[in-house]
Amino acid sequence: MVAQSNVIVTSIALGAVVAFLLGMIVYEVIILVQQGTADENYAVQKISELTRTDSVKDDFIVNEVNASKIRDNLRYLTSAPHVAGTAEQADTAQWVYDQWLQQGLVDVKTIPYEVLLSYPDENNPNRVRLVSKTDGSVVFESVFRQEPLYAPEEADPRVLHNYNAYSAAATVQGDLVYANYGREEDFAELARRGVDVTGKIVIAKYGKNFRGDKAKACQEHGALGLVLYNDPADYDPDGLEVYPDSVMMPSTATQMGSILGTKGDPQTPFYPAIESSFRYPEDECELPAIPCQPISYGDAYHILRAMEGDEAPASWQGGLNFTYHLGPTLASGLEVQVETHTTNRRATITNVIATIPQTAGDDPDRFVVVGNHRDAWMFGSVDPSSGTAVMMEISRVLMAYINETGWSPRRSIVFCSWDAEEFGLIGSTEWTQQFSKQLSDRAVAYLNIDQAFNGNYTFRAQASPLLRDIIYNATKEVPNPDPAEVAAGRTSVYDTWLHRLADLDDLTRPWIGNLASGSDYYSFQQVLGVPSMDMRYTDTRYGEPLYHTLYETFELVDELYDKGFLYHAATTAVAAKIVAAVASAPLLPYSYTFYPEFIRSAVVDLQQQYGDLIASHNCSLDLMTQAVDRFTQDVADFKDSLQNTDFSDLLVQRHVNDRLMLLEKAFLDPRGLPHRPDYLHVVTSPSAFDSYSGVALAGLHDALYALSAAPDDADLWRDFQEHLASVTHLVASAGDALQGRLW
Ligand SMILES: *[C@@H]1O[C@H](CO)[C@@H](O)[C@H](O)[C@H]1NC(C)=O
Ligand SMILES: *[C@@H]1O[C@H](CO)[C@@H](O)[C@H](O)[C@H]1NC(C)=O
Ligand SMILES: *[C@@H]1O[C@H](CO)[C@@H](O)[C@H](O)[C@H]1NC(C)=O
Ligand SMILES: *[C@@H]1O[C@H](CO)[C@@H](O)[C@H](O)[C@H]1NC(C)=O
Ligand SMILES: *[C@@H]1O[C@H](CO)[C@@H](O)[C@H](O)[C@H]1NC(C)=O
Ligand SMILES: *[C@@H]1O[C@H](CO)[C@@H](O)[C@H](O)[C@H]1NC(C)=O
Ligand SMILES: [Zn+2]
Repeated sequence: MVAQSNVIVTSIALGAVVAFLLGMIVYEVIILVQQGTADENYAVQKISELTRTDSVKDDFIVNEVNASKIRDNLRYLTSAPHVAGTAEQADTAQWVYDQWLQQGLVDVKTIPYEVLLSYPDENNPNRVRLVSKTDGSVVFESVFRQEPLYAPEEADPRVLHNYNAYSAAATVQGDLVYANYGREEDFAELARRGVDVTGKIVIAKYGKNFRGDKAKACQEHGALGLVLYNDPADYDPDGLEVYPDSVMMPSTATQMGSILGTKGDPQTPFYPAIESSFRYPEDECELPAIPCQPISYGDAYHILRAMEGDEAPASWQGGLNFTYHLGPTLASGLEVQVETHTTNRRATITNVIATIPQTAGDDPDRFVVVGNHRDAWMFGSVDPSSGTAVMMEISRVLMAYINETGWSPRRSIVFCSWDAEEFGLIGSTEWTQQFSKQLSDRAVAYLNIDQAFNGNYTFRAQASPLLRDIIYNATKEVPNPDPAEVAAGRTSVYDTWLHRLADLDDLTRPWIGNLASGSDYYSFQQVLGVPSMDMRYTDTRYGEPLYHTLYETFELVDELYDKGFLYHAATTAVAAKIVAAVASAPLLPYSYTFYPEFIRSAVVDLQQQYGDLIASHNCSLDLMTQAVDRFTQDVADFKDSLQNTDFSDLLVQRHVNDRLMLLEKAFLDPRGLPHRPDYLHVVTSPSAFDSYSGVALAGLHDALYALSAAPDDADLWRDFQEHLASVTHLVASAGDALQGRLW
């Protein structure tokens, strides 16, 4: 098919080629020319048209999205708890498989892996207790299952008992220290105040960083165990009514979640967990060594209230109605006991993969990948079933578009329903490890949806700098689902996004966060260098209070959060437009001119925050800044060179797109970030202290953060200088790659 179209295409004139490729777009160019813009630089217009697509222009997609189908999808997906490795989760794989076949997708496959998961012992619940030091009597004991409050399914006996996956199984007892959010900076503050956590149990709040990083910090600081809870100050900050009267967190809710610090199957790092794989014995895997257990704030109330010692700093106080103390002693000679029976077990997980049929495109071996995880801790109406419900509608709408208009995407569109994301991005990591060569060479973008919806306040995205404009453009073309916002003159998704979540560095555009590693985009962006994005409708004021709790039910979404599913529908339309645009634009619609700007502002941040420290060691960021200057010039030259490029030749298009595809990969350091071989992308990888954080150039930030506490540590300086040299080189190499320069 490719060879044949080459012959046809290279033999006809430019106008006809563009018509052939772009259908109605050329019509618009002609209109523009006729309207008297002929004097303008035609080449400039041509290039901007090349990044647009036939599908993005019309509103077929917006009109085709059917909110009631999304609701039906969510109803099915939340009908049973579907934790990875369970029979109910195998059923959802079959459902996705059947849906995709019915919709007309091809190469529909289920792809199993055998991986190490972790479950509570249903006969031996995990407990956190207050125990008398003198006679061992139990004064208080935490509940082990969340209480049904409203929806009938909350009483489902298949709901797992409260646990943190991959916690060690152990019983520990001792004094208790309150460590705020359990971040590195919180432990530093405790040390400054003379509170030692060695040999003690730590209680910390959920929020601000990844729970696995809290557990890791506790372990490194010598704590015996960790108790996690959601403080009402974070999960019901305005003291509103709680679920089921609102979406705020009730005192009975407990957030489940994994504390695994690595990504993918712990026993097969870097390789897929297939039959031939070598599996590390469990004691050689980086698994948490201390017990960790989540409890509700209703239960935390009894424990925190009993704490003695210094008052916690004002900024550490929470929403319960007493003054929080740091410990380590408890009133009345009490100690805390943590008893966990969480165990690891090998289980089969199933990804489902399918492709939109591609009949007449010029780049069938270039992939746009769309993915969402399917496994939940319980019903997961928000995380991730809102995402699955939306993804199934995206594929249906794109198929309807093909069926009804004869559209043929230029590139292949691959849909992926991942398993075991909740345990540590396992399904996506194993698959990208299995097919890494093709994906790194041929995938042009990865669009992740996890929680497609967790609030109806604003759209929000995290993305590679390369995907910035495609997201802006798609959101401008989707009508605002909020009638009050429309009445206020903000008619598109983009308008409310800009109004409520502007970029503080440039108030003329909405904020797009940097990707970290909080969901399945990790392997694509941080390991393979495939430009990736994650998007959702959200409430930036409250986050998602019921995240990973029993109360993420269908009723929560249907009756409280998105009555009518209009926000889900808008999210679907935005995503489908992005996918259609990336799949059809002849010239990859990357915002390549933004990349140098993005890196420059990260370097300026580093200089402002750590300039004195850097200078104190006779180091400087000068060579780095020069590399950014050079990269900026290379990008500008590349852009100029496109004016003189003859895009009528498909091979020329391929050459230009290949160079664009190398841009993201140029930032991959084959050795990984310092002491973190599982993160290769030096610009977009997250901080070592928080795998959710989105600071750019995190390897340099982390090194300087460590140095600011230990400015005389020669090893740390060496790490910093070595990594600075890598980043400087890679930034320059990005310019080389774009220019196609070998010398
Ligand atoms: C939307 O989907 C529902 C099924 O959930 C169907 O009954 C209805 O006809 C669809 N609407 C349109 C306009 O196709
Ligand atoms: C598209 O057409 C195919 C073949 O007729 C059909 O099986 C499929 O259900 C259609 N899909 C949609 C979403 O209309
Ligand atoms: C403090 O909160 C607890 C738990 O919600 C409640 O039982 C108690 O009455 C409250 N005490 C005061 C003084 O408000
Ligand atoms: C976004 O839209 C603008 C204005 O229509 C267009 O010039 C630009 O090429 C588009 N960019 C992308 C990446 O779609
Ligand atoms: C939007 O969410 C809020 C809760 O955050 C809820 O009160 C409101 O009814 C929701 N709107 C719709 C249309 O569901
Ligand atoms: C930095 O350079 C000055 C002047 O050459 C020298 O005195 C000082 O020892 C150097 N400091 C470090 C940390 O290398
Ligand atoms: Zn999720």
